[in-house]
Amino acid sequence: MLDANYTLSALESATAFRSHPGEDAFTATKTAVEAAPRALQERPILCLEKINLSFGGVSALTDVDLAVRAGEIRAIIGPNGAGKSSLVNVISGLYQPNSGRIWIDGKSFAKAPAQNAAKLGLARTFQNLALFKGLTVTENVMTGLAFSRRGGFLSQAFGLPKARWEEREARERASAIIGFLHLDRVANRPAASLPYGLQKRVELARALAPNPRLLLLDEPMAGMTATEKQEMADFIRSARALYGTTIILIEHDIGVVMGLSDRIAVLDYGRKIADGTPDEVRKDQAVIDAYLGVARDNDEGAGI
Ligand SMILES: Nc1ncnc2c1ncn2[C@@H]1O[C@H](COP(=O)(O)OP(=O)(O)OP(=O)(O)O)[C@@H](O)[C@H]1O
Ligand SMILES: [Mg+2]
Repeated sequence: MLDANYTLSALESATAFRSHPGEDAFTATKTAVEAAPRALQERPILCLEKINLSFGGVSALTDVDLAVRAGEIRAIIGPNGAGKSSLVNVISGLYQPNSGRIWIDGKSFAKAPAQNAAKLGLARTFQNLALFKGLTVTENVMTGLAFSRRGGFLSQAFGLPKARWEEREARERASAIIGFLHLDRVANRPAASLPYGLQKRVELARALAPNPRLLLLDEPMAGMTATEKQEMADFIRSARALYGTTIILIEHDIGVVMGLSDRIAVLDYGRKIADGTPDEVRKDQAVIDAYLGVARDNDEGAGI
């Protein structure tokens, strides 16, 4: 289990790595490797430290720490109401924690800057479908690029060369992602006319379009058939392989999570009760108890 000390020492080393502006790259790298080889190998792209969040009197998150390494698929699991979406909302800046600290790529925040999320390389999907229903698949995917296009409102409105060039670039990028996710066939259809499983895939396409470094997926497979879930899992794996995307994934299907994730954090009643590889988490007594509790409540096996 990763503890706060590891998180902090990794961050300190990462910061130290940047704080030698006079040195050439080779010397700086050498110094940092000698000082903290582990931190460099496992340098977190995202760290949360002692995050607390409450709504009125209800505590949604209590002292949650999380470190996410660049390039990993990091699952967050837990029973309903455990605080998974709240945690993702804190990371994306939608919710401001009552206390705690967030580091994104070594930069420290009390609240993740939602308006700068794209600039920081963050993208996300939502637990409930959030597509523009009247727009086509291509147009929906292009909205994912809105914040990375630089041409101002006026140059776009008057169709000036830079805006036209950006529009063409955006179409090409959207088309590449649509091809990657096998959505070509439905590219010109209104998003709302597609079956639910494909709409979830369009959301993934929109989030991937700006080539984020960190992608937050809140239940991307909810409501899907077993086959659709496997397809989605393959797309997520391929996105990581092709684009090097770091992925945080919330998912209830434990089988999918175990097969897809490098590490899993488990929340229960807003607290992190376990954190480790799928094998470590599977054997963790606190996790078994949390899921058996769910099984008893639902009178069925939750299965972990
Ligand atoms: N905007 C909000 N206003 C009030 N309470 C909230 C809000 N968002 C979350 N909560 C509460 O915080 C707790 C955690 O909710 P959250 O949605 O993060 O859980 P979850 O693990 O994502 O659950 P699920 O698996 O059902 O999606 C719950 O008690 C929920 O009612
Ligand atoms: Mg949720």
